[in-house]
Amino acid sequence: MKKSLLIMGMMMFILYGCYYDKASLVYPSTGINICDTTGVTYSNTITGILNANCYTCHSGTAAMGGGIKLDTYTGLQVYINNKQFLSSVMQDGSVPAMPLGGSKLSACDLNKIQAWINHGSPNN
Ligand code: HEC
Repeated sequence: MKKSLLIMGMMMFILYGCYYDKASLVYPSTGINICDTTGVTYSNTITGILNANCYTCHSGTAAMGGGIKLDTYTGLQVYINNKQFLSSVMQDGSVPAMPLGGSKLSACDLNKIQAWINHGSPNN
């Protein structure tokens, strides 16, 4: 019973969301966030997030990233396998919090990263 109410509530929310197509209305800043984690890809989603938040220090010849390169799939895999990538962005305290000196990634970006890693961090 509770479950069906919840589902109905969600459906109403979704339908209500479709009625307005202004982003600010569909995604109100009331704490209810719709974050689409389906179709997350390395080449699109993940590199997009890293490009915006990490490559300034962790790519090419950048000297500010302690020599850690995250701008290639293979380079990033090293830090996925040793769990430091997720720990750093989740800021769980086991490694220095990333992005260094910046604000924590949005909950939606973190959900996308988590979803991609849960799927085995494919090179897609
Ligand atoms: C302003 C520069 C800067 C930015 C931006 C930055 N990092 Fe870092 N990052 C560093 C430095 C410097 C280290 C080395 C820290 C150390 O060893 O104490 C580091 C280390 C790391 C490490 C190794 C583990 C650790 O925490 O020491 C990972 C993984 C990492 N960064 C991921 C990221 C990710 C992902 C982003 C973007 C969300 C990011 N970094 C953004 C400077 C940066």
